[in-house]
Amino acid sequence: MEIISNCTEDVIKKAARALKDGNLVAFPTETVYGLGADAMSKKAVSRIYQVKGRPVDHPLIVHISSRNLIHNWSIEIPEFALKLAEEFWPGPLTLILKRSDLAKDFITGGQDKVGVRVPAQPVALGLLREFEKLGGMGIAAPSANRFGAVSPTTAVATQEEIGAYLGAGDLILDGSKCAVGIESTIIDCTSSHPTVLRPGSITLEMIKNFTGIKLSHHMGQTKASGLLESHYSPKARVFLFGNAEPGDGFIAMADVPTPEGAVRLAAPKNVEQFAHELYEALRNGDRANLSSIIVNLPEGGGLAESIRDRLVKSSHQIRS
Ligand code: TXA
Ligand code: MG
Repeated sequence: MEIISNCTEDVIKKAARALKDGNLVAFPTETVYGLGADAMSKKAVSRIYQVKGRPVDHPLIVHISSRNLIHNWSIEIPEFALKLAEEFWPGPLTLILKRSDLAKDFITGGQDKVGVRVPAQPVALGLLREFEKLGGMGIAAPSANRFGAVSPTTAVATQEEIGAYLGAGDLILDGSKCAVGIESTIIDCTSSHPTVLRPGSITLEMIKNFTGIKLSHHMGQTKASGLLESHYSPKARVFLFGNAEPGDGFIAMADVPTPEGAVRLAAPKNVEQFAHELYEALRNGDRANLSSIIVNLPEGGGLAESIRDRLVKSSHQIRS
């Protein structure tokens, strides 16, 4: 495994070639780092599951370089889905659509629908374009963390998470810290009314304002690993209520003072910064071997709501 920090054109070409040869390439997106494989190769995709330690029936998002390629992977796309793609791609939005024949069971977890996204990050887009030049159709990429753990938002964190599981031909591309910091918004577009499966930085309000489309929350039966009980979890226990004690990690908005003896892990000035710093802050708690991290949830709608979604899932218990 090689980690490459200067992602020149040549490096991106080399990475595209590595993917085409069946290797894994971890790469930055604007949300979190993804662990990529050729979405057409059952063998390459199976390695994603091994490296992540993820159950095989969990579907993967297919990344493409342009919304024009959406038709390769999906059929019977409703008007509202095309509108969402037009408005928000490239960007942190994943659409769940009825799958085409190209989207095999090993991508969709056996479901008849597929997740598709165009990321807004130059290294990711460069990699997708080069890969497509080599005949690739898309890159399957989950977040580059071990199953249930915190998504990495830096190349170093990616290496810490999965470096030990990668092989000789695999690569990690370093594209610096992810701009958004939490995973994409996922919208299921397979029924007459679109529903949010995972909230993200593209909020319901933004979608309504830009497209007039009203979404409903749906935490239904669809298999989405983000809906499992324990997810986005660092090794430290995360508490959302209660006071920080000396030696505990502490994350809260900048205007909240650090309790005496607590280790301040982040002091964001706004919710965007909260999302941007959150996963590295949790990880820094683990790097410092802290056993507990107290997080004061950000207030308000939109992105704050998406952050709370992740934090509620990452926390196990309420400290009494
Ligand atoms: O921001 C992101 O979406 C990142 C970057 C790398 O693009 N990717 C990501 O992938 O978060 P992952 O696999 O960690 O989370 C994707 C979620 C999973 O919960 C998965 O179950 C769900 O999307 N998903 C993917 N395809 C699906 C499908 N066909 N039907 C329902 N849920 C799906
Ligand atoms: Mg994930």
